[in-house]
Amino acid sequence: MLITYIKGLVGVHAKDVLSLRGSELAHLPLLENAWLLIKDGLIEDFGEMENIPAEIAQIQPQISAEGRFVFPSWCDSHTHIVFAAPREEEFAMKIAGKTYEEIATAGGGILNSANKMQSATEDELFEAASIRLNDMIRQGTGAVEIKSGYGLTVESELKMLRVIKRLKEHFPIPVKATLLAAHAYPTIYKENHQGYIDLIINELLPRVAAEDLADYIDAFCEKGFFSNEETAQILEAAAKYGLKPKIHANQLSSTGAAQVGIAHHAVSVDHLEETDHEVLEALGKSTTIGTLLPSCSFYINIPFANAKGLIQNNAIVALASDYNPGSTPSGNMNFVVSLACIKLKMLPEQAINSATLNGAAAMEISDKLGSITKGKTANIFITRPMSSLAYLPYSFGQSQVETVILNGEIYHG
Ligand code: NIG
Ligand code: FE
Repeated sequence: MLITYIKGLVGVHAKDVLSLRGSELAHLPLLENAWLLIKDGLIEDFGEMENIPAEIAQIQPQISAEGRFVFPSWCDSHTHIVFAAPREEEFAMKIAGKTYEEIATAGGGILNSANKMQSATEDELFEAASIRLNDMIRQGTGAVEIKSGYGLTVESELKMLRVIKRLKEHFPIPVKATLLAAHAYPTIYKENHQGYIDLIINELLPRVAAEDLADYIDAFCEKGFFSNEETAQILEAAAKYGLKPKIHANQLSSTGAAQVGIAHHAVSVDHLEETDHEVLEALGKSTTIGTLLPSCSFYINIPFANAKGLIQNNAIVALASDYNPGSTPSGNMNFVVSLACIKLKMLPEQAINSATLNGAAAMEISDKLGSITKGKTANIFITRPMSSLAYLPYSFGQSQVETVILNGEIYHG
């Protein structure tokens, strides 16, 4: 497939650029008036329209992208899209002034989703998650990470992970699975934290490993959820099975969660709405990625992460949706990128790099996705006609994604 007359080919990074830190994040190479050749599902070549070789100009099929931009697909490295039911009853509570913590204490929150999960069948979960994932793909997402964490029993966590495995097999995009059994303490373990941790370590982890159901381990390391020590215990046990951490850190308070992740060589520490200078400095010196989820801040009215502080301290920053029924009922990465510009004060170039290449890095697939680079998978989208690259985040709440191409094929899902 040949795409011609592209107004701007976005994110033309060199092969050896696998993530961008600090000041590098503002560098989003753009090739104007370009062509792009896709072969066998991969990006074969690209160049300027005025110098297109005659033998390439004849290749069929051809798509004219006149006036349009071509982006590498969004790489959404943090989601919880397998859930049994939405929680819009909490929406009204939130509007009436209840905080995320108050709603959880009143019987809402993660435990509410966990109750609904127990009776859901694998087929029902798969059908519902497929609709969500299909919507996300149509909005430009071309790689995704999905967490368990609404099971909170051995069987229900396995059920969620098996659904994620089916999504992996069914959808034409990379899907990474994360075990998040340490999302909340089930009511019966409220006074017996060690009992639940032992269950995760001694019963769940061996079965997850035996069925090869997870790529990563996660924990909600937060006051009232999993303490730093409890999180460390789980991360250390998971490391024995080769599961690297990607953890929920510093969402509601700054009590050292990000440092626990860094100390355990986390691929990423995610949320970071509550950071102090030590966190910014620690991430600046680390290869652990700081993944920011501005749609979550937007929806539950918590502070927006200090993206500028992270960038100034030379950290690697990624952006993801956090799509889940409680804190972020949206998986629209276009809106995430807009919010990153509007609320995190990121430049469009910084936000786009964070949602593509660095998002891919936060799933350890940036050698294959996240930029327009020869040899990478041809997961891209073509925009509607746009005046400039910044028009995409500027026109918040509207998708500029017109054509989605995955593995070199137009996606009609
Ligand atoms: O990333 N903070 C923990 N987990 C999710 C919310 C889960 C829920 O409320 O269902 C998050 O925000
Ligand atoms: Fe999350």
